[in-house]
Amino acid sequence: MPIRFVFVTDSHYHADAPKDFGAPKMLTRSREVLEVMVPAINALEPGFILHGGDLLCGGTSFEIPREIYLRSIEEVAEVLAELKAPIYYVPGNHDCDAQQGSFEEFAKRFPIPETLEVVEVAPQLRLALANVYQQNPLEDSAGTWTDELDQALRTAAEEAYKERCALLLVIHPWVFPSHEEQGGFKPGGFVNNAERVLETVAENSAIVAVFTGHKHVNRIRMYRDFLVVDTACLIGYPMGFREVWFEEDGYRSVTTVRPSRSTRGAEPEG
Ligand SMILES: [Fe+2]
Ligand SMILES: [Fe+2]
Repeated sequence: MPIRFVFVTDSHYHADAPKDFGAPKMLTRSREVLEVMVPAINALEPGFILHGGDLLCGGTSFEIPREIYLRSIEEVAEVLAELKAPIYYVPGNHDCDAQQGSFEEFAKRFPIPETLEVVEVAPQLRLALANVYQQNPLEDSAGTWTDELDQALRTAAEEAYKERCALLLVIHPWVFPSHEEQGGFKPGGFVNNAERVLETVAENSAIVAVFTGHKHVNRIRMYRDFLVVDTACLIGYPMGFREVWFEEDGYRSVTTVRPSRSTRGAEPEG
C-alpha cells in the first residue's frame, strides 16, 4: 500500500486583517481560506498531514497587535481540530508574536520541535521536523541551520538507514538556490547555512526528500538523489497544497490540489 499524506504550508491566518498586505496575498479573506482547507484535506483521507509553518501573521511585516495574535492562535487551533488525520508542524517566521519574537503562546496550541524532532509516521517512514528559529525571527526571518540541527539530522539519518527507514526533512525556509541567484545577487528566503543542509542530505541516503514553504512558490527539484519540494502558500495565488504518495518501489509522485469552497472537496490540478 502506498503511503499518502498532505503537505500544506503558509496558511497565514489573521483574525482581524485591516488589509490584504499586497496581492497575491488576501489576508482579509483568511477565515474563508482556513475554513475551506479542512474539508478539502479531509476529503483526501490522508494518512497524516504536515504543515510547513506560517500558520499565522505574527513576526515582522504584518504589525499584528498581541491581542489579535493570541486570538488568531485560538481560532486556528479550533478550526484545525476538525482535521481527521494527525498533523505535524514546523514553525515559520510568522508564527511568533510581533512584539518579542516569542513562540511561547503558539507552542502551547501547536506542538513544534525545540530543535529537530523525529517522528515515525508510517511503516519505514520518518519525519525530521526542524525548528530553524533558535534566534529571534524578528531579526532574521530566514532562520539558521545550526551545528546542533546538523548533528541531530545526521544522527537521525544514520539510525533511519540502519533500520531501513526513509526520512523526510521538513523545514520552513528554502534550502536550494533558485534560478534568480546569479553573480552577486542572492535572493532571500533561504535558511542561513543552506549549503550545509544540502551537503548533509546528500551524504545521507536515508533522507529522500526535503519539504519547505516560506517563499510562497511551487517548485520541485531533483538534486543528487533526493527531491526538494517547495510548496506555495494557501493565502493567495496559487492557493495549493500537495497530496504526496510514497510507493513501495520508491517512486514518488506529487499532485497539487486546490481547496474549493463550492464543492467542499478537492479538485486535482495535475
Ligand atoms: Fe509565509
Ligand atoms: Fe515564512
